[in-house]
Amino acid sequence: MKTIIEKIENIKTDHQIIRRAGEILLSGGTVAFPTETVYGLGANALDPSSIKKIFKAKGRPSDNPLIVHIADLADIDSLVSKIPPIAKTLMEHFWPGALTLIFSKSSKVPYEITGGLDTVAIRFPVHPIAQEIIKAAGVPIAAPSANLSGKPSPTKAAHVIEDLKGKVDMIVDGGAASIGLESTVLDITGKIPMILRPGGVTKEMLETVVGPILMDPALSQGQEQDFIPKAPGMKYKHYAPVAEVKVVMGEINAVTEKIQELTKKNKGNLKIGIMATDQTRSSYDEINALVISVGDRLHPETIANHLFDALRWFDEQKVDLIYAEGIQEVQMGIAIMNRLIKAAGYQTIFAESKGGENK
Ligand code: TXA
Ligand code: MG
Repeated sequence: MKTIIEKIENIKTDHQIIRRAGEILLSGGTVAFPTETVYGLGANALDPSSIKKIFKAKGRPSDNPLIVHIADLADIDSLVSKIPPIAKTLMEHFWPGALTLIFSKSSKVPYEITGGLDTVAIRFPVHPIAQEIIKAAGVPIAAPSANLSGKPSPTKAAHVIEDLKGKVDMIVDGGAASIGLESTVLDITGKIPMILRPGGVTKEMLETVVGPILMDPALSQGQEQDFIPKAPGMKYKHYAPVAEVKVVMGEINAVTEKIQELTKKNKGNLKIGIMATDQTRSSYDEINALVISVGDRLHPETIANHLFDALRWFDEQKVDLIYAEGIQEVQMGIAIMNRLIKAAGYQTIFAESKGGENK
């Protein structure tokens, strides 16, 4: 299949690219486009045969439901069977933006999108290119992240091209995603809203607006699963580069020492990558490994922004093993650690602090 690749420099003057994308979507094709979280792979959400093309291009299991994207609040009415009062408040505060809400679906939404569930996930992205493409198509757009299933989500058009060129009709390049992690998925069909996937909008941000929010208990468990995640997609291995990833957690000095020690043990037979932070990068100056800083610990949004790109970069460098520093699991750190631990296939190492040193 030939994939049209177009770059949008200016949304006003490049309108013919938007129009083309809209036509392809409306005629049943697939178009990858930027959103503020990650790139999405879109198709007409109301047409089962278009939706099937998404699953095929990504190699995605068919029981993993897709998010329906809209570009106008009024579009939600025909997609859901009821809008709970709390949804109205959430939509007012966080839409358009990085929050996906789960509603009871209307009969208009095909089961191919929902993986057979009676609920539907809906998001109104803020990215102008995403909005314009959805409007140009004139139908709601189903769009999972535009990566091959299991790989890190794409935050740049180059990532999409690497994964999906030749498998989709069009890729629209709109530059790098500003958030870099997927949206927060929030189920509002129960009594108390529950986060099924942590993301761009944090629990604290939601609680300020609507009070207590639950986290799906499946999010805080290791690989031994007692709870089945309520978002079907969260049960799959995910975000994984080809290289093996190990996350080293603990107090910051203990973490850097542990990574130094582990790297020194390698007798040169493995190519090692270290995913450090601005605060720790120089601790590895003497270490025989490929070191990058993924961002600033004091501004976790910078880490969110570069995480997936960093994982893909290590693959390009043909690294065998990546030691990634853990970060504090608060606010945006919760979503970052959720992705990182999954990328590691739950391989975590705890670095003990040496007694008293840092007191
Ligand atoms: O930021 C994002 O959300 C990006 C951009 C493109 O919008 N999209 C995205 O889609 O990350 P995807 O398909 O990669 O992830 C959707 C997640 C999956 O974990 C899926 O299982 C869950 O949302 N999900 C979708 N519909 C659901 C439903 N009805 N009930 C529970 N979970 C659902
Ligand atoms: Mg995805």
